[in-house]
Amino acid sequence: MRMKDKCGIVTAAGSGMGRAGAVRFAREGAAVAVVDIDADAVQAVVGEIESAGGRAVAIPADLTRDEDSRRIVREAANALGGIDFVWNHVGHPGPASVEGIEMEDFDTAVALNLRTVLVTTDAAISEIRARGGGALLYTASTSGLRASSFSPVYSAAKHGVVGFVKALGRRLAKENIRVNAICPGPVDTPMLRVFVARPDQQSTHGLDREQLVARRGDTIPMGRPGRPEEVASAALFLLSDEASYITATTLAVDGGATA
Ligand SMILES: NC(=O)c1ccc[n+]([C@@H]2O[C@H](COP(=O)([O-])OP(=O)(O)OC[C@H]3O[C@@H](n4cnc5c(N)ncnc54)[C@H](O)[C@@H]3O)[C@@H](O)[C@H]2O)c1
Repeated sequence: MRMKDKCGIVTAAGSGMGRAGAVRFAREGAAVAVVDIDADAVQAVVGEIESAGGRAVAIPADLTRDEDSRRIVREAANALGGIDFVWNHVGHPGPASVEGIEMEDFDTAVALNLRTVLVTTDAAISEIRARGGGALLYTASTSGLRASSFSPVYSAAKHGVVGFVKALGRRLAKENIRVNAICPGPVDTPMLRVFVARPDQQSTHGLDREQLVARRGDTIPMGRPGRPEEVASAALFLLSDEASYITATTLAVDGGATA
Protein backbone atom coordinates (compact mmCIF):
# COMPACT_ATOMS: atom_id res chain seq x y z
CA MET A 1 0.00 0.00 0.00
CA ARG A 2 1.58 3.22 -1.18
CA MET A 3 -0.39 5.62 1.06
CA LYS A 4 -0.83 3.51 4.18
CA ASP A 5 -1.85 5.55 7.24
CA LYS A 6 -1.85 8.84 5.33
CA CYS A 7 -4.78 11.24 5.73
CA GLY A 8 -5.67 13.91 3.22
CA ILE A 9 -8.05 15.95 1.13
CA VAL A 10 -9.05 15.79 -2.53
CA THR A 11 -11.06 18.71 -3.92
CA ALA A 12 -13.41 18.41 -6.91
CA ALA A 13 -13.52 14.74 -5.92
CA GLY A 14 -17.11 14.22 -7.04
CA SER A 15 -16.18 13.64 -10.67
CA GLY A 16 -13.39 13.07 -13.18
CA MET A 17 -9.78 12.96 -12.06
CA GLY A 18 -10.55 14.02 -8.48
CA ARG A 19 -12.95 11.12 -8.03
CA ALA A 20 -10.44 8.70 -9.57
CA GLY A 21 -7.75 10.05 -7.22
CA ALA A 22 -9.86 9.77 -4.07
CA VAL A 23 -10.80 6.18 -4.91
CA ARG A 24 -7.22 5.23 -5.80
CA PHE A 25 -5.63 6.85 -2.73
CA ALA A 26 -8.11 5.05 -0.47
CA ARG A 27 -7.30 1.76 -2.18
CA GLU A 28 -3.64 2.47 -1.42
CA GLY A 29 -4.41 2.86 2.30
CA ALA A 30 -5.18 6.58 2.70
CA ALA A 31 -8.10 8.04 4.63
CA VAL A 32 -9.61 10.62 2.28
CA ALA A 33 -11.75 13.73 2.75
CA VAL A 34 -13.90 13.87 -0.39
CA VAL A 35 -14.68 17.54 -1.16
CA ASP A 36 -17.00 18.83 -3.89
CA ILE A 37 -19.90 21.27 -4.31
CA ASP A 38 -22.09 18.37 -5.47
CA ALA A 39 -23.22 16.79 -2.18
CA ASP A 40 -24.76 13.73 -3.89
CA ALA A 41 -21.57 13.05 -5.81
CA VAL A 42 -19.53 13.39 -2.61
CA GLN A 43 -21.75 10.81 -0.88
CA ALA A 44 -21.51 8.47 -3.86
CA VAL A 45 -17.69 8.59 -3.87
CA VAL A 46 -17.51 8.05 -0.10
CA GLY A 47 -19.91 5.11 -0.50
CA GLU A 48 -17.75 3.66 -3.27
CA ILE A 49 -14.62 3.93 -1.09
CA GLU A 50 -16.29 2.48 1.98
CA SER A 51 -17.83 -0.44 0.13
CA ALA A 52 -14.33 -1.34 -1.08
CA GLY A 53 -13.18 -1.38 2.57
CA GLY A 54 -11.57 2.06 2.57
CA ARG A 55 -11.92 5.10 4.83
CA ALA A 56 -13.41 8.39 3.66
CA VAL A 57 -15.38 11.36 4.91
CA ALA A 58 -17.82 13.50 2.91
CA ILE A 59 -17.29 17.26 2.98
CA PRO A 60 -19.59 19.16 0.60
CA ALA A 61 -18.20 22.67 0.00
CA ASP A 62 -18.43 25.58 -2.41
CA LEU A 63 -14.80 26.47 -2.98
CA THR A 64 -15.62 29.88 -4.45
CA ARG A 65 -16.14 30.79 -0.77
CA ASP A 66 -13.13 31.47 1.45
CA GLU A 67 -14.97 30.12 4.51
CA ASP A 68 -15.47 26.78 2.75
CA SER A 69 -11.89 26.62 1.44
CA ARG A 70 -10.73 26.96 5.04
CA ARG A 71 -13.45 24.82 6.66
CA ILE A 72 -12.59 21.74 4.59
CA VAL A 73 -9.16 21.61 6.23
CA ARG A 74 -10.58 21.97 9.74
CA GLU A 75 -13.28 19.33 9.17
CA ALA A 76 -10.91 16.91 7.45
CA ALA A 77 -8.30 17.22 10.20
CA ASN A 78 -10.94 16.63 12.89
CA ALA A 79 -12.55 13.69 11.10
CA LEU A 80 -9.36 11.95 9.97
CA GLY A 81 -7.03 12.82 12.85
CA GLY A 82 -4.65 15.02 10.84
CA ILE A 83 -3.60 16.04 7.34
CA ASP A 84 -0.63 14.56 5.46
CA PHE A 85 -1.61 15.62 1.96
CA VAL A 86 -3.92 17.86 -0.04
CA TRP A 87 -4.71 17.54 -3.73
CA ASN A 88 -6.09 20.95 -4.70
CA HIS A 89 -7.72 19.70 -7.84
CA VAL A 90 -10.69 22.04 -8.24
CA GLY A 91 -10.62 24.43 -11.20
CA HIS A 92 -12.81 26.20 -13.72
CA PRO A 93 -12.59 26.60 -17.52
CA GLY A 94 -13.19 30.36 -17.25
CA PRO A 95 -14.64 32.54 -20.01
CA ALA A 96 -13.74 31.81 -23.63
CA SER A 97 -13.63 35.49 -24.53
CA VAL A 98 -11.40 38.45 -23.80
CA GLU A 99 -13.29 41.05 -25.83
CA GLY A 100 -16.51 41.80 -23.99
CA ILE A 101 -15.51 39.58 -21.09
CA GLU A 102 -17.99 39.32 -18.24
CA MET A 103 -15.94 40.11 -15.15
CA GLU A 104 -18.12 37.80 -13.07
CA ASP A 105 -16.84 34.88 -15.18
CA PHE A 106 -13.29 36.09 -14.66
CA ASP A 107 -13.83 36.26 -10.90
CA THR A 108 -15.23 32.71 -10.78
CA ALA A 109 -12.28 31.37 -12.79
CA VAL A 110 -9.77 33.11 -10.53
CA ALA A 111 -11.67 32.01 -7.41
CA LEU A 112 -11.64 28.33 -8.38
CA ASN A 113 -8.25 28.10 -10.07
CA LEU A 114 -6.23 30.35 -7.76
CA ARG A 115 -7.94 31.89 -4.75
CA THR A 116 -9.20 28.66 -3.18
CA VAL A 117 -5.73 27.19 -3.69
CA LEU A 118 -4.20 29.95 -1.58
CA VAL A 119 -6.83 29.85 1.18
CA THR A 120 -6.82 26.05 1.54
CA THR A 121 -3.03 26.02 1.50
CA ASP A 122 -2.91 28.67 4.20
CA ALA A 123 -5.13 26.49 6.39
CA ALA A 124 -3.34 23.22 5.56
CA ILE A 125 0.33 24.10 6.09
CA SER A 126 0.17 24.13 9.90
CA GLU A 127 -1.72 20.80 9.88
CA ILE A 128 0.90 19.19 7.65
CA ARG A 129 3.73 20.72 9.68
CA ALA A 130 2.20 19.21 12.83
CA ARG A 131 2.63 15.75 11.24
CA GLY A 132 6.31 16.41 10.54
CA GLY A 133 5.81 17.00 6.83
CA GLY A 134 3.71 15.89 3.90
CA ALA A 135 2.77 16.80 0.36
CA LEU A 136 0.72 19.42 -1.44
CA LEU A 137 -0.38 18.80 -5.00
CA TYR A 138 -2.12 21.25 -7.32
CA THR A 139 -3.83 20.65 -10.63
CA ALA A 140 -2.60 23.15 -13.19
CA SER A 141 -2.84 22.11 -16.84
CA THR A 142 -0.76 22.01 -19.98
CA SER A 143 -2.40 25.46 -20.37
CA GLY A 144 -0.24 26.46 -17.38
CA LEU A 145 2.89 25.47 -19.30
CA ARG A 146 2.10 26.85 -22.74
CA ALA A 147 -0.58 29.15 -24.11
CA SER A 148 -4.09 28.05 -24.93
CA SER A 149 -5.65 30.50 -27.40
CA PHE A 150 -9.21 29.38 -26.71
CA SER A 151 -8.91 29.99 -22.94
CA PRO A 152 -6.73 33.03 -22.14
CA VAL A 153 -8.10 33.52 -18.63
CA TYR A 154 -7.73 29.82 -17.83
CA SER A 155 -4.16 29.93 -19.18
CA ALA A 156 -3.34 32.93 -17.01
CA ALA A 157 -4.78 31.30 -13.90
CA LYS A 158 -3.02 27.97 -14.48
CA HIS A 159 0.31 29.72 -15.13
CA GLY A 160 -0.37 31.34 -11.76
CA VAL A 161 -0.81 27.94 -10.14
CA VAL A 162 2.52 26.78 -11.59
CA GLY A 163 4.29 29.91 -10.31
CA PHE A 164 2.72 29.50 -6.88
CA VAL A 165 3.80 25.86 -6.68
CA LYS A 166 7.41 26.61 -7.60
CA ALA A 167 7.67 29.45 -5.08
CA LEU A 168 5.91 27.58 -2.27
CA GLY A 169 7.91 24.43 -2.95
CA ARG A 170 11.15 26.32 -2.48
CA ARG A 171 9.82 28.02 0.63
CA LEU A 172 8.71 24.79 2.36
CA ALA A 173 11.48 22.50 1.13
CA LYS A 174 13.44 22.42 4.41
CA GLU A 175 10.27 21.58 6.35
CA ASN A 176 9.74 18.28 4.57
CA ILE A 177 6.63 19.60 2.83
CA ARG A 178 6.75 18.85 -0.87
CA VAL A 179 4.76 21.01 -3.30
CA ASN A 180 4.11 20.02 -6.90
CA ALA A 181 1.74 20.63 -9.80
CA ILE A 182 0.27 18.11 -12.14
CA CYS A 183 -0.41 19.39 -15.66
CA PRO A 184 -2.94 17.27 -17.51
CA GLY A 185 -3.57 17.65 -21.20
CA PRO A 186 -7.11 16.92 -22.41
CA VAL A 187 -8.65 14.29 -20.14
CA ASP A 188 -11.99 12.69 -20.83
CA THR A 189 -14.19 14.29 -18.14
CA PRO A 190 -17.23 16.62 -18.21
CA MET A 191 -14.87 19.63 -18.18
CA LEU A 192 -13.26 18.58 -21.47
CA ARG A 193 -16.68 18.82 -23.11
CA VAL A 194 -16.85 22.47 -22.04
CA PHE A 195 -13.51 23.19 -23.70
CA VAL A 196 -14.16 21.42 -26.98
CA ALA A 197 -17.47 23.24 -27.46
CA ARG A 198 -15.84 26.71 -27.29
CA PRO A 199 -17.04 29.09 -30.00
CA ASP A 200 -13.60 29.71 -31.53
CA GLN A 201 -13.30 26.05 -32.46
CA GLN A 202 -15.05 27.20 -35.70
CA SER A 203 -13.64 24.50 -37.92
CA THR A 204 -15.36 21.90 -35.77
CA HIS A 205 -18.83 23.14 -36.73
CA GLY A 206 -21.24 20.27 -37.28
CA LEU A 207 -19.50 17.75 -35.01
CA ASP A 208 -21.13 16.55 -31.82
CA ARG A 209 -19.27 16.70 -28.51
CA GLU A 210 -18.08 13.08 -28.64
CA GLN A 211 -16.63 13.68 -32.11
CA LEU A 212 -15.00 16.87 -30.83
CA VAL A 213 -13.36 14.98 -27.96
CA ALA A 214 -12.06 12.35 -30.39
CA ARG A 215 -10.81 15.10 -32.68
CA ARG A 216 -8.94 16.73 -29.82
CA GLY A 217 -7.23 13.39 -29.32
CA ASP A 218 -5.91 13.53 -32.89
CA THR A 219 -3.69 16.49 -31.93
CA ILE A 220 -1.97 14.46 -29.19
CA PRO A 221 1.05 12.27 -29.99
CA MET A 222 -0.56 9.30 -28.21
CA GLY A 223 -3.67 9.87 -30.32
CA ARG A 224 -6.28 10.14 -27.57
CA PRO A 225 -7.29 12.19 -24.54
CA GLY A 226 -6.17 10.90 -21.15
CA ARG A 227 -8.32 8.88 -18.78
CA PRO A 228 -9.00 10.18 -15.25
CA GLU A 229 -7.33 7.10 -13.76
CA GLU A 230 -4.09 7.87 -15.61
CA VAL A 231 -3.90 11.29 -13.98
CA ALA A 232 -4.81 9.76 -10.61
CA SER A 233 -1.81 7.39 -10.94
CA ALA A 234 0.53 10.34 -11.47
CA ALA A 235 -1.05 12.17 -8.52
CA LEU A 236 -0.58 9.08 -6.36
CA PHE A 237 3.11 9.01 -7.22
CA LEU A 238 3.63 12.70 -6.46
CA LEU A 239 1.77 12.49 -3.13
CA SER A 240 3.46 9.27 -2.00
CA ASP A 241 6.89 8.89 -0.41
CA GLU A 242 8.13 7.49 -3.73
CA ALA A 243 8.44 11.13 -4.83
CA SER A 244 10.50 12.04 -1.75
CA TYR A 245 13.07 14.14 -3.68
CA ILE A 246 10.57 15.83 -6.01
CA THR A 247 9.36 19.29 -5.11
CA ALA A 248 8.62 22.70 -6.64
CA THR A 249 8.07 21.23 -10.07
CA THR A 250 5.45 20.22 -12.63
CA LEU A 251 4.56 16.89 -14.18
CA ALA A 252 2.79 16.95 -17.53
CA VAL A 253 0.38 14.04 -18.01
CA ASP A 254 -0.51 14.75 -21.60
CA GLY A 255 0.30 11.89 -23.94
CA GLY A 256 3.31 13.83 -25.22
CA ALA A 257 1.38 17.00 -26.16
CA THR A 258 3.70 19.63 -24.67
CA ALA A 259 6.83 18.06 -26.12
N1 LIG B 1 -10.53 17.65 -18.10
C1 LIG B 1 -9.49 18.19 -18.69
O1 LIG B 1 -9.26 18.05 -19.90
C2 LIG B 1 -8.51 18.98 -17.85
C3 LIG B 1 -7.24 19.23 -18.38
C4 LIG B 1 -6.31 19.92 -17.62
C5 LIG B 1 -6.64 20.34 -16.34
N2 LIG B 1 -7.88 20.09 -15.85
C6 LIG B 1 -8.16 20.55 -14.47
O2 LIG B 1 -8.65 19.46 -13.70
C7 LIG B 1 -9.49 19.97 -12.66
C8 LIG B 1 -10.88 19.34 -12.66
O3 LIG B 1 -11.13 18.83 -13.86
P1 LIG B 1 -11.91 17.46 -14.16
O4 LIG B 1 -11.80 17.36 -15.62
O5 LIG B 1 -11.45 16.36 -13.27
O6 LIG B 1 -13.37 17.95 -13.76
P2 LIG B 1 -14.84 17.36 -13.83
O7 LIG B 1 -15.57 18.20 -14.78
O8 LIG B 1 -14.85 15.88 -13.97
O9 LIG B 1 -15.27 17.69 -12.31
C9 LIG B 1 -15.23 18.95 -11.76
C10 LIG B 1 -15.79 18.85 -10.35
O10 LIG B 1 -15.64 20.13 -9.73
C11 LIG B 1 -16.78 20.34 -8.93
N3 LIG B 1 -16.95 21.77 -8.66
C12 LIG B 1 -17.38 22.71 -9.54
N4 LIG B 1 -17.50 23.90 -8.92
C13 LIG B 1 -17.13 23.70 -7.62
C14 LIG B 1 -17.08 24.55 -6.49
N5 LIG B 1 -17.44 25.83 -6.56
N6 LIG B 1 -16.65 24.02 -5.32
C15 LIG B 1 -16.31 22.71 -5.23
N7 LIG B 1 -16.36 21.85 -6.27
C16 LIG B 1 -16.76 22.35 -7.46
C17 LIG B 1 -17.92 19.77 -9.74
O11 LIG B 1 -19.06 19.52 -8.96
C18 LIG B 1 -17.28 18.51 -10.31
O12 LIG B 1 -17.51 17.38 -9.49
C19 LIG B 1 -9.55 21.46 -12.86
O13 LIG B 1 -8.56 22.08 -12.06
C20 LIG B 1 -9.20 21.60 -14.34
O14 LIG B 1 -8.74 22.88 -14.64
C21 LIG B 1 -8.82 19.44 -16.58
